[in-house]
Amino acid sequence: MQDLMQKITSLCKRRGFIFPSSEIYGGFGSCYDYGPLGVEMKNNIKRAWWKEMTQLKENIVGLDSAVLMSPKVWQASGHLTAGFADELVECKGCHKRFRLDELKQKKCPECGGELTKPRKFNLMMKTFVGPVEDEAATTYLRAETCQGIYVNFLNVLSTTRQKVPFGICQIGKSFRNEITPGNFIYRTREFEQMELQWFCHPKEAEKYFEFWLKERINWYLNLGIKKSNLRAKEVPKKDLPHYAKRAVDIEYKFPFGWKEIEGVHNRGDWDLLNHSKHSGQDLRYFDEEKKEKYFPYIIETSAGVDRSFLTFFVDAYQEIKGGRTKTTKATKEIEVLLKLHKAISPIKVAVLPLVRNKPELVKKAKEVYKLIKPHFPSQYDELGSIGRRYRRQDEVGTIASVTCDFQTLKDDTVTLRERDSMKQIRVEISKLKEIIQKILEGEEFLKLGKIVK
Ligand code: GAP
Repeated sequence: MQDLMQKITSLCKRRGFIFPSSEIYGGFGSCYDYGPLGVEMKNNIKRAWWKEMTQLKENIVGLDSAVLMSPKVWQASGHLTAGFADELVECKGCHKRFRLDELKQKKCPECGGELTKPRKFNLMMKTFVGPVEDEAATTYLRAETCQGIYVNFLNVLSTTRQKVPFGICQIGKSFRNEITPGNFIYRTREFEQMELQWFCHPKEAEKYFEFWLKERINWYLNLGIKKSNLRAKEVPKKDLPHYAKRAVDIEYKFPFGWKEIEGVHNRGDWDLLNHSKHSGQDLRYFDEEKKEKYFPYIIETSAGVDRSFLTFFVDAYQEIKGGRTKTTKATKEIEVLLKLHKAISPIKVAVLPLVRNKPELVKKAKEVYKLIKPHFPSQYDELGSIGRRYRRQDEVGTIASVTCDFQTLKDDTVTLRERDSMKQIRVEISKLKEIIQKILEGEEFLKLGKIVK
């Protein structure tokens, strides 16, 4: 199964989804860069989440807070103390470090050497603000985006007149000095989170926990993730994060095993209470109607953008031995199909001239491309046989391909090919934009034009 991860990693590199960071210098500590297709897909994931949370739900507003915050924030949140630390052991021979909870044996997995006693290793990334590198200038890159939400709790309340229950959501980078990053983009030291903080009355916390857990699982399912690859796992009391009263991990079945992709947490009053204590500001909520003042409980849904990316990619990846098309020369090859959901696919349309040695066809195809490009993320491709070009598009998940052929020159119609069925219809160029829109909205493909036999 690790073989599958290698294939996915190499496809990501070859087609411009993901590159190792600083590659010309030999890479850098499990950091990755998203390439031209990767950034489109990543933006689509974030857009889908943002729409779900802010547009399609009631009483949720957005925020974009700074990565750098007062170090007092991290004192109050408990991240600078033992709560946010992994137990680490070091090999006395090769000096490699390992997380205690990931070790299956008492010896070094690399060289078999003796291991040191475990010690706590804090995951916060330290940095200095300003020209002097001393204790007074020390702060940290945020380890979770939600702390920026808590410190703005009063600002949002007073500017939006929200009433409990309500939510604040944010998408942004977080940083953790992970001891053992790995499995491609699954665990990295710099990553992006999509977090919702839902503020509610303590008595309603459990009800909303169940609500949000269900909502979040449905988000993945609605975007095409196979149900059998998704599960919710209650986190045992002894493993709860330092801030949580209850936690459920949403897990995906990766080629390297079932792994967490999102956490749903009941954070109780941990954050608002501690920020009140440390800042001296009263962060309690006053219910005007009931004349009740209290710390709202927080139900949090915390998803990783990069882990969502990997989830969508792995789930969509299919290999077809011998290929799907039996009419081309390539039938002995392994064909790759990236069956991404329409909302997630980086490219929606490819425009292809049937052949590239006919200038009038190329000219027409470029005109069609120009027509389509402002409306949908599109690609123009004229290199190689038409069958090979279709497969190149299938491999990156392009939803539909438009081909300009000799008939196009006669009657201004083109063929539209659908990725998943490989079926083709003939449509007028003047209606192309409207028809592609309908395909993306999920209308039945074969009803949108004249079927090509
Ligand atoms: N605010 C709560 C919080 O941060 P978490 O369970 O530590 O909770 C939430 O992280 C999500 O953030 C994870 O489920 C994962 O998707 C993502 N995440 C955490 N650490 C990560 C890492 N080192 N690399 C990639 N994603 C990570």
